[in-house]
Amino acid sequence: MTYDPTKQTREAAVVSYRHCQPSEAVAMCGIIVRAGVDDALDELVAGLENLEYRGYDSAGVAVRDDEGSITVCKREGETDALEAALEDRKLDGTLGIGHTRWSTHGAPSDENAHPHTDGANRVAVVHNGIIRNHDALRSELREAGHEFTSETDTEVVPHLVADALDDGADPETAFRRAIDRLEGSYAVAMLVGDDDAVYATRHGSPLVLGLGETANYLASDVPAFLEHTDRVVYLEDDDVVVVDGDSYRITDGDGTPVGRSVETVEWSAADARKGVYNHFMRKEIDEQPVSLRQTVEGRIEADRGVLEEFPPGSLTDVDDVVFVACGTSYHAGMYGSTLLRRRGIQATALRANEFAHDPMPLTERTLVVAVTQSGETADTLAALRAASESPAQTLAVTNVVGSSAAREADDRLFIRAGPEIGVAATKTFSSQVAALALLADRLEEDGAGSAGGEAASGRTVTADLTSLPNDVETVTNDEGAARLAAQYADAESYFFIGRGVGYPVALEGALKFKEITYEHAEGFAAGQLKHGPLALVTPATVVVAVFTGRNDDRTLHNIREAQSRGAPVVGVGPTSATAVREAVDEYLEFPDVNPNLAGMLANVHLQLLAYHAAEIRDRAIDKPRNLAKSVTVE
Ligand code: F6R
Repeated sequence: MTYDPTKQTREAAVVSYRHCQPSEAVAMCGIIVRAGVDDALDELVAGLENLEYRGYDSAGVAVRDDEGSITVCKREGETDALEAALEDRKLDGTLGIGHTRWSTHGAPSDENAHPHTDGANRVAVVHNGIIRNHDALRSELREAGHEFTSETDTEVVPHLVADALDDGADPETAFRRAIDRLEGSYAVAMLVGDDDAVYATRHGSPLVLGLGETANYLASDVPAFLEHTDRVVYLEDDDVVVVDGDSYRITDGDGTPVGRSVETVEWSAADARKGVYNHFMRKEIDEQPVSLRQTVEGRIEADRGVLEEFPPGSLTDVDDVVFVACGTSYHAGMYGSTLLRRRGIQATALRANEFAHDPMPLTERTLVVAVTQSGETADTLAALRAASESPAQTLAVTNVVGSSAAREADDRLFIRAGPEIGVAATKTFSSQVAALALLADRLEEDGAGSAGGEAASGRTVTADLTSLPNDVETVTNDEGAARLAAQYADAESYFFIGRGVGYPVALEGALKFKEITYEHAEGFAAGQLKHGPLALVTPATVVVAVFTGRNDDRTLHNIREAQSRGAPVVGVGPTSATAVREAVDEYLEFPDVNPNLAGMLANVHLQLLAYHAAEIRDRAIDKPRNLAKSVTVE
């Protein structure tokens, strides 16, 4: 077979990856495209179900039939509502696009749901991201006689394409002309009635091509089509891909053919399914022994971290480390920074959104580490970009190969946790912390730990990482959190406190609890309780205190302050912490481990506490209200 770079077939593929925004709508959304030899609809809907974690305000599909007619069906609500609407509709056709939406502004509605079409239903478009200049484009198009049916920024795209088609452009040229007018970040896929290919591009929002046996796919994320293929091409920003049932062609923004390598995804389809579980979150909590093993596999030798990505000597020019991240990943960054400081390495964790627009002074000997499960969080990418413009070195610690963070940072370290579908991050937190613990070894050996740390005394953190998965399993099998979730179901507030590595875990415990139970939960540094929050503590406040085996006596003082105000205290700590066990009202124990890792075990108890508390309240655990898995808007 000869290789024609302008027409790559599935067999001959060589390689290569774009973001989105609303008007009064869209932010982070899921796109699925399916081009094959038989009807597309079932696979489109299944793909949307797999992408629901990216947004669940509304969902829709558009299918092109053999006569070149495009039929759109879209509904406000979760994919179930779309499926119900599709029951009495006939959408035959081998080519289709689908979308699941998470709005940041404006009410989710049938009208604002994607796909959007031009007035004549000749062009259908799905979009993830934000088109910042949509107001100007909309005014211009209105003056030219176009009528709009939604409030979305997206709707300008099919109208722009339709204009170009009316001017005599072929579909690809019309698509290019339309996207050339867009400002912002977006992934867009387009169907045209009189053409048998799908046209797509990305600019700051993720889009990955999947190459199957009997169909090709495009999606915002791999789980959308993982049932059908594990062979993927990560598209680069501004690539334009034209894909049909058995071939694809990638060109850059100027129309020059580009080779992009085909990669095999290591995730399995089973990883992305709920299996026997009621919720992905619970499945992912239970997966932690496995995901942690994956994170450290082949990366520990003689009780030291050996990262293929960072051979000896590769970090000799690093003096200090700054972690930038959001949400759970920020808590992992805080945990990592504490581990580093304990090794004598200067380290700070900052919230990415703050850092991005108010950065701290950085030198060429600073390593800025963006910690991000998805690799697509807009705030974290903004921080990474701000760091890239400084003299500092950058590193992405992420779960998603081919993600924007992985591509944009100078270096990358993959946490290898497997797909995480539940909106609440669980297994990726523990894998992030484990990966950062391994990175600490390299930094220390390469001399960053010149301030004199504690590693030399006793067993190293890395040595204990090997046995940690078994300890995590002990906690996932423990039913204590389920019992306490029921016992304290009527509390008014839930406070989580901790110190050292227990502090980020307290913050993470509170975040998990509030996001899936919708109850008031706050995390504090244990020592800060007396500086203000104690005013809120009453007998209706449950205080959950994390103990790690280090400085526990101080935290014991803090819980007494709460107990004397009548608050029940749940301790989460090591089996052998007798004094703690005696002092608290209830105790969730975990096996004795290196205090540096104890926070990771405590965190699993807190994940289970949040999970069971949400289950009692019958919450949408995997898809909590107002939230989405990957937040691609700042
Ligand atoms: C909370 C949660 C979020 C994410 C945050 C960052 O359970 O999942 O707080 O941690 O949105 O996402 P990533 O890690 O993808 O950058």
